[in-house]
Amino acid sequence: MPQIIAVIAPGAMGANVGHKLVEAGNVVLTSLEGRSDATRERAKKAGMVDASWSDIVQKADIVLSIIPPRDALSFAQRLLREHNSLNRTDKDPLVFADCNAVNVDTIKSIAALFTESPIAFLDGCIIGGPPSGNYVPTFYGSANPGDEKGLKLFEEVIGRSGIKVRLLSGEGSGIGNASALKMSYAGISKGLTGLFTTIILAAHTNSPATSEALLQELSDSQPELLERITRAVPAMIPKAYRWVGEMEEIAGFVGGGEGDIYHGMSQIYARVERSIEEGNGDVDVLKSFVDAAKQRI
Ligand SMILES: *[C@@H]1O[C@H](CO)[C@@H](O)[C@H](O)[C@H]1NC(C)=O
Ligand SMILES: *[C@@H]1O[C@H](CO)[C@@H](O)[C@H](O)[C@H]1NC(C)=O
Repeated sequence: MPQIIAVIAPGAMGANVGHKLVEAGNVVLTSLEGRSDATRERAKKAGMVDASWSDIVQKADIVLSIIPPRDALSFAQRLLREHNSLNRTDKDPLVFADCNAVNVDTIKSIAALFTESPIAFLDGCIIGGPPSGNYVPTFYGSANPGDEKGLKLFEEVIGRSGIKVRLLSGEGSGIGNASALKMSYAGISKGLTGLFTTIILAAHTNSPATSEALLQELSDSQPELLERITRAVPAMIPKAYRWVGEMEEIAGFVGGGEGDIYHGMSQIYARVERSIEEGNGDVDVLKSFVDAAKQRI
């Protein structure tokens, strides 16, 4: 049965997910309040419908939150406020899946907002990039005991659109499972990219000759790492601003002194972002290292 699904917000991920859900025959609502022309255009192309907050909380069967991690809590607070100010009649309780890259403590404090509410709250995460052509990412979901019905709906609506979906269920499962997986996976994949970025810049700062010797040695002894650098570093540059907050979430997930590694990762991504804005050369250093690496693989 087609559903009414709200996808907030229509960024690169949200709009492409929205498009898959529209293609599967669902009505996909979004909020374009205060959004740029480019975002409005992206949402329109995806077939998403601009809706007011009251329409979203009254009409949607399920809301998917797909936003930068630093906005996850305030979005959930707003959703709850809007929901409480209106009467949702003749419908099953609203299902709300937070699909953002936040850590276990953060998702638990968001979930705590909903304990007195009829809203069924789900912990979700997305692994992979936006759907494109035949490529689809994987959505993971977990829920506290009692919210299985909401989790089933999440699995159905996402699965029917052709996007991969896996539930983390079974003994002891609950809010936190999907977020823990996201933190672990991103800690490795985006952590590796952060490590490459940090050292390429440090080697260059020491001396361009160090950079050249590093490239030579990687090409001789670690060609698979060099190949990964040529893919991962350029793909990261336009997304660096989004990874700043995500790295802070991972720092909290890891905890202790080891967690500081990810405070450092957050700083390296902030530095890349600053370089894009100020044109201070770091991005040029990264790009020329990648170009030189491509000559050697
Ligand atoms: C919601 O329903 C209650 C009880 O029927 C009523 O008192 C209240 O005014 C309604 N609120 C809205 C926003 O319609
Ligand atoms: C979910 O988290 C709980 C608490 O940490 C743990 O006991 C359980 O094994 C986890 N389940 C999955 C599927 O990750």
